[in-house]
Amino acid sequence: MCILSIEASLVYKIKNATMASPEAVGAPPEVSAGIDQKKPSKQQIDPYNVAGEIDDSGNTKAIDYDRLIEEFGTQPLTEHHLRRFEEVTGKPAFRLMRRKLFFSHRDFDKILDAYEKYGSFMLYTGRGPSSGSMHLGHCIPFLFTKELQELFDVPLVIMMTDDEKYLYTRNKNDGVQKKGNAAEDFLEYAHENIKDIIALGFDAKKTFIYTDYEYLGGHFYRNTSEFESLVTFNQASGAFGFNASTSIGFAAYMAKQCAAAFPSSYPELFGYPDYRPPEYNPSAQRRHKALASIPTLIPCAIDQEPYFRILRDRCERMTDPHPKTCLILSKFLTALQGPGGKMSASDPNSAIFMSDTPAQIKNKINKHAFSGGRETAEDHKKYGGNPDVDVAYTYLSYFLEDDAELEDLAQKYRSGEMMTGEMKARCITELQKFVGEFQERRKEVTHEVMRSYTTPRKMEYGGNPRVKASPEEANGSLTETPAAAPAGKDGRGTKGERKAAKLAAKKEGKLPVRQKDQDGGGGDATAS
Ligand code: TRP
Repeated sequence: MCILSIEASLVYKIKNATMASPEAVGAPPEVSAGIDQKKPSKQQIDPYNVAGEIDDSGNTKAIDYDRLIEEFGTQPLTEHHLRRFEEVTGKPAFRLMRRKLFFSHRDFDKILDAYEKYGSFMLYTGRGPSSGSMHLGHCIPFLFTKELQELFDVPLVIMMTDDEKYLYTRNKNDGVQKKGNAAEDFLEYAHENIKDIIALGFDAKKTFIYTDYEYLGGHFYRNTSEFESLVTFNQASGAFGFNASTSIGFAAYMAKQCAAAFPSSYPELFGYPDYRPPEYNPSAQRRHKALASIPTLIPCAIDQEPYFRILRDRCERMTDPHPKTCLILSKFLTALQGPGGKMSASDPNSAIFMSDTPAQIKNKINKHAFSGGRETAEDHKKYGGNPDVDVAYTYLSYFLEDDAELEDLAQKYRSGEMMTGEMKARCITELQKFVGEFQERRKEVTHEVMRSYTTPRKMEYGGNPRVKASPEEANGSLTETPAAAPAGKDGRGTKGERKAAKLAAKKEGKLPVRQKDQDGGGGDATAS
């Protein structure tokens, strides 16, 4: 559709909607949300929908991840990547990676190369706080990110998109704001979710968590604004299914999620000043070019990929070009009802919540977890079960560390030696342990603890201990700039470091410029 006709139909709809529903004045008119309301028979995966194909008899089929890789044009994560990961970090790949629950990527090899050569990068992930309590499925990308952060010893930013959830919800409700759906409510959910995320065990020294409503501004907002200028409405609607009735706030949100991947959106984390009230630091009048060269890796579930496809295409068009963002993408934690759906906060019987009691966990697994077992005990013993579709087994593959035990369970289930009830019992024990330990840590996360993570401060991290390049050797590389070099001990850096950072900020126009990628790829932070 050409832009002109979109505008024409927008004008038409606004006119009509305003006349038709005076009570909705000030709200986006007639939002018939092309998003979220389709009842597809084909598999549909995007940031606002996750559903497997529905077959002729109305049954939802398991999500076809191979097809997703093909459709999205991402790469499969292979044994080669696992070996390379182990070689670069000197540590074994962890279970979510070994078992290919993180199964796809873009330029993961490039982030490994950059880390091997220059010693550091930034991790970025996020969460849309749609309710006050998180479930097991929400925890998966964070558990993985935590492992990555520990292994690489690099800074991490976590974006809580209270604005996205507000805009999405109101858009979905035809512009009407329902009870519990005000901006403040989503900010409140974000705070609760931040506490949950902290309880997963992130290191306060190198983790910055923020909500959009609280943090957006300064250099971040400039990156957002610039990014908005690089995306046309046609491109955004192509990727997200927006239509002329989508609110402009919701349509524009994507620029924030993309600009959040630029380290230059967070100068303070790297010892550089930001430009915000009340100081309006004169040395931060312009965004810091030196920060733009730090590469970023985003671990996330694959439904978020459409955002980052748009991001990657534009990294190099920013005023201070950024290496193409690298991605490592996960599958979804299956709903209790079985493959084809993901755990959903709006359906309590589909999910195990982090606030569930041991009895609730036991009950949900026993009552609702889809079984890959046979109809009768006799048949099961005779023909064996199918662990691949068995929800209890699937959850164990996410949470049970021991490869040998997992393999043993699968084998015994297949042979019929192990019954559904036993598999469920093993799963219940493991989940009760995980959730119970989480709840113990969660009790310790006070408001003050939360605030210590949401305060912008210089991150303390060591990066790759094997990179010993002197500033001369690493000329133009990441380790050269004080920005990406490991931080001082006090979180703000020493006086000398701060002075050096200021100096560097001044000098940054003279810093070497990044080489243009020959292959149109990216993720290479090389400065020539
Ligand atoms: N849109 C995501 C959600 O609804 C939140 C998010 C923001 C995110 N930035 C991210 C998720 C980066 C993964 C990676 O949950």
